[in-house]
Amino acid sequence: MKKIIVAIDGYSSSGKSTMARQLAREIGYLYVDSGAMYRAVTLFALRHGLATPHGGVDVESLVSRLPEISVSFALAPDSIQHTCLNGEDVEREIRGMEVSEMVSPVAAIPEVRHRLVALQQGYGRDKGIVMDGRDIGTAVFPEAEMKVFVNASPEVRAQRRVDELRAKGVEVDYDEVFANVCERDRIDTTRKESPLRQAPDALLLDNDHLTRDEQMQWLLDRFHEITK
Ligand code: DC
Repeated sequence: MKKIIVAIDGYSSSGKSTMARQLAREIGYLYVDSGAMYRAVTLFALRHGLATPHGGVDVESLVSRLPEISVSFALAPDSIQHTCLNGEDVEREIRGMEVSEMVSPVAAIPEVRHRLVALQQGYGRDKGIVMDGRDIGTAVFPEAEMKVFVNASPEVRAQRRVDELRAKGVEVDYDEVFANVCERDRIDTTRKESPLRQAPDALLLDNDHLTRDEQMQWLLDRFHEITK
């Protein structure tokens, strides 16, 4: 069977990462969470005082320190891919509210995007990859054979994020998470450099009312149609 590139884009907390990871497992493809890469760069900025929740991002200093940042993935004992920042497993830290609050402005910096997009394109060189993010079908792999754009209402997405964080033992407030989801949507869709938008040839998956199993079946059906 021919190997393809599957690009899954959509709003934050639309469930696309879980979906993309599961799809990759089912079809035996490599999975890359591109959002995790932007989160790792954001963590670096926070740790080095180059981004502060109220002071914003020191763009010039962060750009000058980009050569010091290495982002990679390692398979953890739970067989889930963990994101590493300069070799350190930071999977847990990059999912917290501090990083979530600062990641959109960091991801809007063109130099950060150029660096991470080049890395992402390297992962797709041999195809057989599922990658999820915001610009995978539009900028990273415009030639991807299968593109999916995932949509869900901000209320449903905020509730999912709250459930996900609470399941990990992180106590959060729904209103705070809802505000964060809306603010990230605003920045992600209005930034100058490759804003979040549906590629003209992407399949739309509106998942407000679909169960996980229904979504997976839908994705597998599309995948088999395209690769047959
Ligand atoms: O998917 P996520 O919520 O982990 O993504 C974190 C942030 O990174 C999100 O605010 C937008 C940004 N992002 C991006 O700009 N481009 C991507 N390909 C993936 C994520």
